Amino acid sequence: MTTGSDADRYGHGHGPPSYPQRRPHYGGAPPSYGSSASFRGCCCCIFMLVIFLALLALAVALVVVLAVKPRKPQFDLNQVAVQYLLVAPPSPAVSASPTVAAAPAAAYLSLNITLLFTAVNANKVGIRYGATALDVMYHGVPLGVAAVPGFEQPAHSTRLLQTRVIVDRFNVLQSDAQDLIRDAALNDRVEFRITGDVAAKILVLGFSSPKVQVSVDCAIDISPKRQSVTYKQCGVDGLSV
Ligand SMILES: *[C@@H]1O[C@H](CO)[C@@H](O)[C@H](O)[C@H]1NC(C)=O
Repeated sequence: MTTGSDADRYGHGHGPPSYPQRRPHYGGAPPSYGSSASFRGCCCCIFMLVIFLALLALAVALVVVLAVKPRKPQFDLNQVAVQYLLVAPPSPAVSASPTVAAAPAAAYLSLNITLLFTAVNANKVGIRYGATALDVMYHGVPLGVAAVPGFEQPAHSTRLLQTRVIVDRFNVLQSDAQDLIRDAALNDRVEFRITGDVAAKILVLGFSSPKVQVSVDCAIDISPKRQSVTYKQCGVDGLSV
């Protein structure tokens, strides 16, 4: 449909449809300078503003990151104290002799240990840790949890957190029971794994960063005879106790 101004400009009744390819030569600007142009200008303005604000936010974030140089929070298992570890065959009637051929169908495991974690904040800013529950496992079977409450840690500080894990006559079944009785009686070494994620947020000027996951994955060996930890390894670096 031709507008009145187009018809005037072309001077005759044919209008633009007969010269579609020549149209760009007549004007270059859209035929109407009314509300659509100002709307477009407004749109452009808002678009530029949004881009400017985005760049500004990015610049501010960059300056803050460069000033703070955030480092990943460190959360490690520092010490394990054993109050007791008891491995009991299913019933007292069954011979406790390690050379017994009959495979036990179950074994009871009781555990009372204290875990000491160290949280190190080497940052210039505070860290907020969420509450977490780390799994204590034997052969991949979760026996219990080590609960660590959430807390806020100021800049440049180290904090010790103590938590206790109590397992009361956990019924370890089948092949795991066999292994457990053998580990305890013959090898005098029961291996546990302590694993889980701790969620931390870095606090900058009242804002908190997105969640940073700190993984805890430790293997500990407990000697039932000595009632103590004989080996502890977290992550990749091993440490004999
Ligand atoms: C675990 O050991 C601690 C320290 O010896 C003791 O106070 C606590 O009562 C024990 N807990 C259980 C359930 O045996």
